[in-house]
Order: sequence, then structure tokens, then C-alpha cells
Amino acid sequence: MNIFILTGAGISAESGLGTFRDKDGAWAKFDPMKLATPQGFRRAPDDVHHFYNMRRRDLKTAQPNAAHCALGRLEAGLAARGGELFLCTQNIDDLHERGGVRRVIHMHGELLKARCNHCGLATEWHDDLSVDLPCPDCRRAGGMRPHVVWFEEMPMYMDEIFDALVVSDLFVSIGTSGAVYPAAGFVQTARSAGIRTCEINLDPSENAQVFDERRYGPATELVPTWVDEILSGEMRVTRRRA
Ligand code: OAD
Repeated sequence: MNIFILTGAGISAESGLGTFRDKDGAWAKFDPMKLATPQGFRRAPDDVHHFYNMRRRDLKTAQPNAAHCALGRLEAGLAARGGELFLCTQNIDDLHERGGVRRVIHMHGELLKARCNHCGLATEWHDDLSVDLPCPDCRRAGGMRPHVVWFEEMPMYMDEIFDALVVSDLFVSIGTSGAVYPAAGFVQTARSAGIRTCEINLDPSENAQVFDERRYGPATELVPTWVDEILSGEMRVTRRRA
């Protein structure tokens, strides 16, 4: 069985990393137009660096939770049965990797990487960023930015993502509000391809009604149970279109 999973901030919430649109989420406290757009960065790069520096520091003390680890188990279990997990995340943290998933597609980039706006090089980065830092490759200062996707920028790996999505047997969305496209549209693409769809989230997402199956509660409880069902063969997946 080939399973395509899309994750969002909700899967990392119980690891202590905040979500965006919940009551206490980042976008309730900060303006995304100032902190997560190319114009915002041009106008106030210090503020943008500070926002992502704080998130990078929080990530260092965060640990993967039972949901991340269950997906690591799922990837290995599917491979042992001749199947495959395609894990696409909107998250910029590295908790899936630390939870044991070997192949993670970060469509919104990675917090532990920085990119130079002058030469384009993306490089691993674990420390604070600032405007006066020179690029480790071209040595020019003023161009270093977090290697993340901001609003109005194109998410990464889209061809690879759609190729994997349309050949999967099951599409599962975990911990995402369904508010941001193109990720929010994956469920419709899956349905059009006749693929069964399942949502696992704390509350119904914005496109909850589109899913064939819905499970609501904390990811650390629901995801391990769901993975056990898949790996025990309890859950048989058939295409929606015969
Ligand atoms: P959101 O903050 O929009 O949604 C988080 C979802 O997780 C909500 O639907 C919550 O109900 C759910 N949730 C919260 N705690 C949970 C838990 N313990 N278990 C399960 N679910 C839980 O975050 P995303 O959907 O990831 O993009 O946001 C998508 C994109 O919008 C982000 O990648 C980011 C943001 O702006 C950029 O910055 C470009």
C-alpha cells in the first residue's frame, strides 16, 4: 500500500511548537504580512530574522512526540510490506526526521537551513541569522534569509508531490487547518483521482466535509492508533472508484 500523508503544525503542537491559526497561534500574535512575506523581509529584515531565530531556538529544545514516532514506524512497516510512505509536511521543523521518518518532503522549507538571496545557495543553519552575516559561499552580506516559503512564494517540490499524490492508495491529512493552498487542495486532487481520504485533526478543518473519513482528537493519541490499524492490516483500503 502507498500512503500519502500531509502534515501541518498540529502534529508538532504537543511537542511544544505553536500552531498558526489556533487561539494562541503565531498569527494571533504576529502579522504574517510583516513576518512571512518577501516584502515584509525587505522592509524589516531584523524583525523577520528575530521571529525565525526564536522559532529556531524553540526547535532545539523540542522533542518528537508519539505521532511523529508512529509515522517513523509506519514508513518502516510499509517498506517491509512492499509499500511506501510519501510524507509531505508544511512544517519547517525537523521533528519528523527525528521521529524516524527517513524521507520527508518539506514543501514550506526548513528552519534549519538558510539561503543566500545573492547566490541562491541553501545551506544547513542552526544558529541565529542576521542581516550583516556574509554568505558562507559567495561571502556577500545582506542576503541571508531563512530557507522557508513565505506567502506569495511558490512551495517547493510541487511536481514530485503531485506525482506521488495521484498514484497513492490513501491520502491522510494530519494536524492542518486546510487554510493554506496549494496544500489545502490536495484532498480534492486525491478525490478526483479516486483515492480514499482521511483527516486526523484536533477539530474539523476548513475542508473537513470533503474527507471520506474523519478522526478528531490529539495527534499523539490518534496517529499511533491509526498506524497500528494500518500495519496490522485491520484497515483495508480500496479505491473510491471501482
Ligand atoms: P494551522 O495553525 O493553520 O492549523 C493547525 C491545525 O492543527 C488546526 O486545525 C488545529 O485544530 C490542529 N491541531 C492543534 N493541536 C493539535 C493536536 N494536538 N493534534 C492534532 N491537531 C491539532 O497550521 P497549518 O495548517 O500547518 O505557512 O498551517 C499551514 C501553513 O500556514 C503553515 O505551513 C504556515 C502557515 O502560515 C507559512 O508560513 C507559509
